[in-house]
Amino acid sequence: MRTLTGITPSGTLHIGNYFGAMRPAIEAQAGGDCYYFIADYHSMTSVTDPAERRSHTRGIAIDWLAAGLDPKKSVFWRQSDVPEVCELTWLIGSLTPMGLLERAHSYKDKTSKGISPNFGLFAYPVLMAADILLFDTNAVPVGQDQRQHLEMTRDIAIKYNQTYGETFVVPEAVIRADVAVVPGLDGQKMSKSYGNTLEIFGDEKVLRKKVMSIVMDSRTPAEPKPDAEKNICIQLLKHLAPAEVAADFEARLRAGGLGYGDLKKALFEHYWSFFAEARRRRAELVANPDYVDQVLLEGAERARSVARVVIKRARKAAGLE
Ligand code: ADP
Ligand code: TRP
Repeated sequence: MRTLTGITPSGTLHIGNYFGAMRPAIEAQAGGDCYYFIADYHSMTSVTDPAERRSHTRGIAIDWLAAGLDPKKSVFWRQSDVPEVCELTWLIGSLTPMGLLERAHSYKDKTSKGISPNFGLFAYPVLMAADILLFDTNAVPVGQDQRQHLEMTRDIAIKYNQTYGETFVVPEAVIRADVAVVPGLDGQKMSKSYGNTLEIFGDEKVLRKKVMSIVMDSRTPAEPKPDAEKNICIQLLKHLAPAEVAADFEARLRAGGLGYGDLKKALFEHYWSFFAEARRRRAELVANPDYVDQVLLEGAERARSVARVVIKRARKAAGLE
């Protein structure tokens, strides 16, 4: 059972990324055969500053390792170190109907926000399908927003298999209901595009201020809050604190007598201690850049040895060899 997932290096990682994609991926390591990569080709449509791409790529590599990705258990590489994925994008893209890509939510969202579309943005689900199919992937842990891309990947794999004979493994999305959509500080889905994120790593003062500035309603502390489960701090505490602690805060908020300031303070403390160990590991990794380079280099070699076999199979099936 092979698990694979990727994260685009287009900004700083937040706790939505952590609970939706990173933690399930890290937990899957216990079963072995895990493939994780930094999707730097995917960042080409949003980042055009080379220095920024390099620094985000390195930053995200460090974040993953600090969060618990173990290079002894998992293959971990930078997407562009395995360029076979571009060839596969062409092979499968040539069988992908325009209509399928036109229906992609991510494409529609981006164009509706005024981002002027280019080939890369339109073809993004094909590159993502190639990422997955190139490694004979069975399971892809992602957040809810990626479900449609996984369905497209399955459609593309099935079409290739029907056209050229059994070539690709048809993968499944792994979307855990409890973490499918982690809310942001404003209650919408947490996303770097909405500016409502709580970062996994960052400056304590800045992050404390972010938490303390979460907007609440104007009810007094004494008032009972029958809708306590909808409170954003309670929802985040359910991810960051032990279940009984989150339940206790929810009960106190519901009953009345718990002020929002105290609730936010508690949220910050739980958040800060949740990532304490990862923060310590991150500081060590930052001080050891050669180790990070070595991990990515070795990972790329291992990933490439699998990719070569699959691309050969796809080429042969299509009559390119
Ligand atoms: P963003 O929306 O901040 O740009 P990405 O699209 O880079 O995040 O997401 C990287 C991974 O993290 C994907 O698997 C995505 O589904 C997951 N993810 C992102 N935001 C959330 C969230 N709020 N809740 C759960 N998972 C999320
Ligand atoms: N598109 C994903 C995102 O925006 C990142 C990604 C690229 C990915 N290739 C992938 C995720 C392959 C899973 C599998 O979050």
